[in-house]
Amino acid sequence: MNVSTRILLVDDEPRFCDSLAEILSLSGYLVTSAQSGEEAVELLTKDVFDLLLLDVELPDMLGYQIMDHLKGENSGAATIMLTGNATVTTAIEALKKGAYDYLKKPVDHDLLFKTIGKALTHSRLEQALRVSEERSKTMAEASWEGIVIHDNGQLLDANKQFFDMFGYQENELLGEQILDNILPAVSLPEVRLRIKNKTFGSHETIGLKKNGEQFPILTSSRHMEYRGKKVRVCAIRDITERVKAEQEKIELQKQVAITNKMETLGLMAGSVAHDLNNILSGIVTLPELLLMQMGENHEHRKIITLIQEAGQEAASVVSDLITVTRGATAQKRVWDANILVRNYVATTKEKGLDSQLKDIDIMLDCECRVSNIYCSAVHINKILMNLIGNAAEAINGKGMVAVSTKNISLDHPFLGYELIAAGDYVVISIRDDGPGIEEKSLKKIFEPFYSKKVMGRSGTGLGLAIVWNTVHDHDGFIDVQSDGGGTTFNLYFPITDKAVEEEADSPFIEQYRGCGENILVVDDQEKQQKIARTLLDSLGYKTDTVSSGEEAVNYIKMKEVDLIVLDMIMDAGINGRQTYEEILKINPKQRALIASGFAENDEVQKTILLGASQFVKKPYSLAQMGQAVKQALSQT
Ligand SMILES: Nc1ncnc2c1ncn2[C@@H]1O[C@H](COP(=O)(O)OP(=O)(O)OP(=O)(O)O)[C@@H](O)[C@H]1O
Ligand SMILES: [Mg+2]
Repeated sequence: MNVSTRILLVDDEPRFCDSLAEILSLSGYLVTSAQSGEEAVELLTKDVFDLLLLDVELPDMLGYQIMDHLKGENSGAATIMLTGNATVTTAIEALKKGAYDYLKKPVDHDLLFKTIGKALTHSRLEQALRVSEERSKTMAEASWEGIVIHDNGQLLDANKQFFDMFGYQENELLGEQILDNILPAVSLPEVRLRIKNKTFGSHETIGLKKNGEQFPILTSSRHMEYRGKKVRVCAIRDITERVKAEQEKIELQKQVAITNKMETLGLMAGSVAHDLNNILSGIVTLPELLLMQMGENHEHRKIITLIQEAGQEAASVVSDLITVTRGATAQKRVWDANILVRNYVATTKEKGLDSQLKDIDIMLDCECRVSNIYCSAVHINKILMNLIGNAAEAINGKGMVAVSTKNISLDHPFLGYELIAAGDYVVISIRDDGPGIEEKSLKKIFEPFYSKKVMGRSGTGLGLAIVWNTVHDHDGFIDVQSDGGGTTFNLYFPITDKAVEEEADSPFIEQYRGCGENILVVDDQEKQQKIARTLLDSLGYKTDTVSSGEEAVNYIKMKEVDLIVLDMIMDAGINGRQTYEEILKINPKQRALIASGFAENDEVQKTILLGASQFVKKPYSLAQMGQAVKQALSQT
């Protein structure tokens, strides 16, 4: 059917044009005619045509120049040139430009229809091919797979994704043998074998980027005919994200299994402990009765004492077992983790350390001002005792154990030894330079009764089970890192924004410890300067002293300090209030604390109104001064 075929006929001879138009219309073509190039170009901008019949020589232009205006929907239109003898060379020129054929005038009608038919078929095929090429190009470009066509490893073609995925410029490796470029040594033999054996289908392997980075890929290959050759086409997917997600899933499953196992074992240990406790009370108390009834020199006294001691030892194991059972922790309250850690380490050092710890350097590295945690001090001590003890046992001789604290904020859950929830934590770390824990054992160390030590001498294998359950009982988490260079246990305790409850009767000096803040003591008495300096230095501050208000003002001009401890009445020169007034002119935010031998008087009141935070009466105790300084420093 020619009904829908639209023809633009361009010829400047009206008679020829009309007769040809009529012939074509009678055959069902929709014909529009134009007598000049300009008219034709105009029509091409308004209408869509399937075919152009162009006279080679028009008054205003050469016919083939009209072809330059075939754009948009008209770009696929077929063109046939109509020519008199004299213009055949120009017609040939038109063919080079993409015209389908030329017909000599006068036109043979049969030949005209045949040529039109062939030209239309040709242009439709061309159009279809163009669409298909565009489609496959778009598909290839839109796909996130790299697509490579290669012949035994020689790159014949590839899409942009392939070059992007492997970090090459587009077309960079074309024509080259690329297997060595895109596969690391581990993947090469298998891929070569697949190519050699003509193995197709999916294959997971490792890819190599231009920058040397390796990444997991999934390839899917098949045979294809390409420019007359049988070649291999291969779709490559970067599966880094998938592999990562799978690994995370496996890790999580392992973690869930560990936690479940730990809980079951904990419960089991707890119920065993409960039964054992009842049984043991007989073994612990009855020998005592027997011993009371026996004479001093009774022949069985020694044996019964041994029974009694064994019973007591068993009872202490049972008490550990009870701690392993979740929920058995003692009363909790708000603590500054640094205080607990410092105290524990100090007492361990003080004890002169038993033989096991004598060659071990215990180092302490507390981050200043860690947040508070809600915990049981007894149990934190128990944790430290077990972890420091384990470290010392592992080192077995000379070595180092470092105990540290720091604040850590996790934006996302973090997969360590277990999955650690996002949140704000105080992390207590115990690091040793012992031999480390091998991977196989690492999975088991927290299980109750898991021990590599000689049973009875040390090693019931409950130490880390206690640590695990205690930390979890505090809603905390544990991470362990271990290699040949040593082991680190990181214990994550959730922070609390509640304040430490003051214990009025025993103010904890540790609570007032500073973090190296600079303090300037202004006092005209040398003795007072010395006292203040010794005291503040011992609390961890950096102290400087001056003997007059004027000196203090000059000092502040040279150097900033966090706090000034100010005497009110000084023998010569300006007094405390005047000094503070002058200093505020230099630094309006300067914090100050009044230390004076006299009760609060007018000058003191005025100084407080200026912004000084506190009044400490001389003579002051370490705790009083410590508390006042801490409070003054915490004011903004
Ligand atoms: N810091 C460490 N370095 C090397 N190995 C360690 C360390 N901490 C623990 N282990 C290993 O983990 C095992 C389990 O420790 P855990 O504290 O639970 O039991 P234990 O120390 O053997 O016995 P217990 O603590 O009951 O006396 C230890 O036997 C040891 O093999
Ligand atoms: Mg132990």
